[in-house]
Amino acid sequence: MAPPDCAEPRWLKAGLDHIWLPYAQMKTAARPLPVVASEGARLTLADGRVLVDGIASWWTACHGYNHPHIAEALREQLARLPHVMFGGLAHEQAYRLATRLAALLPGDLERVFFTESGSVSVEVAMKMAVQYWMNRGVAGRTKILSFRGGYHGDTFATMAVCDPEEGMHAKFAGVFAPQLIGDLPRDGAALAGLRQLVEAHAHELAAILVEPRVQGAGGMVFHEDQVLRDLRQLADDFGLLLIFDEIFTGFGRTGAMFACAEAGVTPDIVTLSKALTGGTLPLAATLARKHVFDAFWGDEADKALMHGPTYMGNALACAAANASLDLFESEPRLAQVARIAALLEEGLAPCRALPGVTDVRVMGAIGVVEMEAMPEPRALQAAFLDRGVWIRPFRNVVYLTPAFVIADGELEQLTGTVAAVLSEALLRA
Ligand SMILES: Cc1ncc(COP(=O)(O)O)c(C=O)c1O
Repeated sequence: MAPPDCAEPRWLKAGLDHIWLPYAQMKTAARPLPVVASEGARLTLADGRVLVDGIASWWTACHGYNHPHIAEALREQLARLPHVMFGGLAHEQAYRLATRLAALLPGDLERVFFTESGSVSVEVAMKMAVQYWMNRGVAGRTKILSFRGGYHGDTFATMAVCDPEEGMHAKFAGVFAPQLIGDLPRDGAALAGLRQLVEAHAHELAAILVEPRVQGAGGMVFHEDQVLRDLRQLADDFGLLLIFDEIFTGFGRTGAMFACAEAGVTPDIVTLSKALTGGTLPLAATLARKHVFDAFWGDEADKALMHGPTYMGNALACAAANASLDLFESEPRLAQVARIAALLEEGLAPCRALPGVTDVRVMGAIGVVEMEAMPEPRALQAAFLDRGVWIRPFRNVVYLTPAFVIADGELEQLTGTVAAVLSEALLRA
């Protein structure tokens, strides 16, 4: 790790001997930046620098940081009831949230199972799908079909449904239970190939799992809504369940509140997390349609879904999520996303002419510059910081997923910086 900066706070110096960082070779990783405050689309560092945040904390902080409405809801909930176990006890925030989510999602996606992270919500979706068949007395339908380029989490079951080579978990192949991986049917030929694959494996498949519209951590790769309609058709033709992982796309990120509704597809199961609490507390939800839930309903105890995380339905997190939904109702979030999309298009357009840039694409509040190869990441990161922005490139993409409340000037600072820094790096290379 780089030597300490003398302005570094003591807690960072001391804690670095004890913290294990995410996705990092600890020996060579850049030192994390100490953040002491956040507001709107800005982060304040310990040395007083203020950065415009281009990532919204892994796509969570859709209303910006420290939104007063969420803060107030949390204060009230903390004073009254921070948490109670979900087994045998109930509290208003979770029940209200479940009712609201069921009303927001299309069709009869009406049954909500709460967890605390995106990965676990996908695990629950997979478990629901497999047990759905068991409960209906159909043996052998235990596998999930997912897609190359996909990412669904880092836990053991979800590692198996990520891209097998690029999904960060390749070395675990052979350790976890193998699943079926196909190519997203982006054209007629791919759809025909996928149909053949499904036909050959239908007897062992429980469900098809996909990130609708955008494969996020797999490289911010977009696809048409027709892909989702084709997957619905394929699932119906072979009697499979269809699971949409809307952990990244849910709550406005692609320009619509939910990708599934916009695509006109009602999946059988949906997972939500990330922006669910407006970027304040960990919470996730797995929503199931009535016919999925019905397979668990009955007098037999062993038909129950045996799952129940300790912090399931945490009252503080649910209060934050309810407050976040209030904001989607009371503030013009989707209009803000449309404006962000236009500014991203305009601001990132100059990158198209740069040598080594293979694509510039925008969907809702997601702007992506894809390159043949990433220029030296450390130098890139340093250049971004010098210009007062927080952007975290990965693989071969530099991307922006700002808070929806970001001011035009802040967004222009982000896009202008991306264009300037990439221009320097790519023209120099
Ligand atoms: C589409 C998708 N699914 C699942 C996950 C995993 O969520 P978590 O990191 O909360 O476990 C992510 C996280 O980036 C994601 O983007």
